[in-house]
Amino acid sequence: MATLSITARTAGSAELIKTQALAVLMPERKTLSPLLKALDKRLGGTVARSLHNGDFTGATGSHIWLPGADGVERVLLIGCGDPSKLNVAQSKKISEALSRALVASPAKDGQILMECLTQKTKNPAALMEQMSLSLSLAHYQYGQTLNKRKKAERALKKVAILPGALCDMAAARRAVLAGVATGQGSNLTRQLVNLPGNICTPKFLASEARRLARSDKNLTTTIVDERKMAELGMHSLLSVGNGSEQPSQLIIIKYQGAASSARPYCLVGKGITFDTGGISLKPGAKMDEMKFDMGGAGSVFGALKAAAMMKLPINIVGVIAAAENMPSGRATKPGDVVTSMSGKTIEILNTDAEGRLVLCDALTYVARFSPVEVVDIATLTGAIIVSLGQEATGIFSNDDHLANSLLSAGERSHDRGWRFPIWEEYHRQLDSHFADLANIGTGGAGSITAACFLSQFAEDYKWAHLDIAGTAFRSAPKGATGRPVPMLVQYLRERAGVL
Ligand code: BES
Ligand code: MN
Ligand code: ZN
Repeated sequence: MATLSITARTAGSAELIKTQALAVLMPERKTLSPLLKALDKRLGGTVARSLHNGDFTGATGSHIWLPGADGVERVLLIGCGDPSKLNVAQSKKISEALSRALVASPAKDGQILMECLTQKTKNPAALMEQMSLSLSLAHYQYGQTLNKRKKAERALKKVAILPGALCDMAAARRAVLAGVATGQGSNLTRQLVNLPGNICTPKFLASEARRLARSDKNLTTTIVDERKMAELGMHSLLSVGNGSEQPSQLIIIKYQGAASSARPYCLVGKGITFDTGGISLKPGAKMDEMKFDMGGAGSVFGALKAAAMMKLPINIVGVIAAAENMPSGRATKPGDVVTSMSGKTIEILNTDAEGRLVLCDALTYVARFSPVEVVDIATLTGAIIVSLGQEATGIFSNDDHLANSLLSAGERSHDRGWRFPIWEEYHRQLDSHFADLANIGTGGAGSITAACFLSQFAEDYKWAHLDIAGTAFRSAPKGATGRPVPMLVQYLRERAGVL
């Protein structure tokens, strides 16, 4: 995957700027700053003219391309409204408009002049971080299984962000690194999630985990195979892969950023590499989208990559429960009862409710790490799409502080979540005649009963569950979004005390 290089640099004087694309952030006003005046003189006055004739107003997220001159090949004016009133949503809108335009242009390098903004904004670093994130995300394109000629590579290879004289350069560099790390983490997630099920199998995820660990000395990977899982008593997880030719894998990726005695934060990902529903077979329409059912696993990869790039001073253990859910003569049948690693027996009334079956054993497994907190991430229920659509991730937790941290991490990164209850009353839906609990509820609140099921395997630690069935991918244009990596990275940064 080709990555975009992004750096923060001091702007110097207008005469020194040489680039194939100069992007200028412009507030909604008719006068130019001294630096912009000098630049406009060099460009022959086109910036001032496009302001005066009304072609460009500076409205938030608006943009116009102007021909350049004298070492600057082209100029992109980006409107940023009233910079003193910038909020997260507007920063995102501005950054995305700029990134889309820059990435689509034939320019090989770009420079972003933020001078007029940094004087007025409360938090210029936040805007630089958002800019770096948006640029990284916009630069990604899926190509692995496409004939090369069909999709031209991005021309843009490197971008320099020029924050302006008043900005603290060390803070600017940190902000750019955070944005790039979150962006590259998200892009890793998108790539894994976009790969088809015949390539991205549980074994493939295991090899990708080993590959990720090779890229950073603070990352290590361990794989637990089916034999070892049987020894551990993970018969719930194993039951999901029974019908598949692909062996299930429990993948553990450790990031060590603090003393080895420091208790870790655990991220647990649902890694169903394809979900046919099993014997409770899904209808055919859009079944291809069930290759995205390892979105939770993908986000564990992305969050760990970002944490390692940022060298966060905490320990993190990522655990991925990977399996393929297929119908066959050996597949689990409705009514089968399995014993989970916790000892609790489960009546599998619907083989399509398989995510909770792999996750419950992974949740029991992570207790051995004495985690500070455990967050599981899963494309768990279609019902969460009914509740929240594609805007918010469903948050469920047995701990108010953890739930609130995830909510505020979502707000800050504009990768938002919304909390649901997991009250005792809902748990009754999981009562079973033939086992300790059933794997589906009796009706209504499908996302909540799924979370209630998981909570019964997470009683010994602080735990949250993120249902990302609505946020991890889109149907049009079809593809992975990289969510909720920005929320997870923000949460981990907050826990690491580096914001
Ligand atoms: N992977 C699906 C959930 C899903 C649905 C994700 C649509 C993305 C888009 C999950 O394994 C599933 O099939 N859940 C069932 C649960 C039901 C059988 C209780 C569902 O949501 O229908
Ligand atoms: Mn399913
Ligand atoms: Zn599933």
